[in-house]
Amino acid sequence: MDPVIPSDAMLIRENTAAIAPRLVPEIELHLADEDRALYRAGEDELAAMGIGTPYWAFAWAGGQALARYILDNPKAVSGRKVLDFGAGSGLVAIAAAKAGAFDVTAADIDPMAAAAMDLNRALNDVWFEIETEDVIGGAGDWEVLLIGDVCYDKEIADRIFPWLRREHQAGREILFGDPGRFYLKNFGLEPVASYHAETTGIMEDTDLRNARVWRFAH
Ligand SMILES: C[S@@+](CC[C@H](N)C(=O)[O-])C[C@H]1O[C@@H](n2cnc3c(N)ncnc32)[C@H](O)[C@@H]1O
Repeated sequence: MDPVIPSDAMLIRENTAAIAPRLVPEIELHLADEDRALYRAGEDELAAMGIGTPYWAFAWAGGQALARYILDNPKAVSGRKVLDFGAGSGLVAIAAAKAGAFDVTAADIDPMAAAAMDLNRALNDVWFEIETEDVIGGAGDWEVLLIGDVCYDKEIADRIFPWLRREHQAGREILFGDPGRFYLKNFGLEPVASYHAETTGIMEDTDLRNARVWRFAH
């Protein structure tokens, strides 16, 4: 990862509070809350701040479900080399590190997500690598790939599924955290665990109450 730009870290600190996501009370993250402008900022305000959509400032329902699953089922990652893809705040990577993963990499192409993850790993006293290069299609040596709420967009869903299916066929374990978004359908997944997470009505059009963990059906 490139060194975090101090002004990015300052922007995050000034526009977030340390908050534990509803499903994962044992982890605190720098997240947007209703008292801060970032929570309601539109495109123009974000542009004035010099940032894009702050996915990293929210703990998405899929990421919360995946983090909860990993903390409750540490064997899924314990002693293994893990990738958190589309990591955002780094919630899933933090859960994997806490659950005893041997080595964790959190990948997100948004440099602000990298800056947020840098703060969030310190806040939780864990370590993981942060990767801002696009890893889709690459052949890393990860044993477990964790995908938290990334199927919100057709373009990204179309890019990740051929890659993830190949990785699955090569014997890697792939777990998706997702509330059942449209682009997740028809990819041959089966549910592993179900949770109830409420997310903000600002970044989502409805509260998501059916966050699930999924895997490729056998
Ligand atoms: C909805 S957020 C989910 C964040 C986190 N996993 C969670 O569940 O809270 C999706 C994230 O995917 C990231 N993303 C989009 N395209 C990506 C790519 N090609 N490689 C890595 N991350 C990507 C975005 O920057 C964003 O942070």
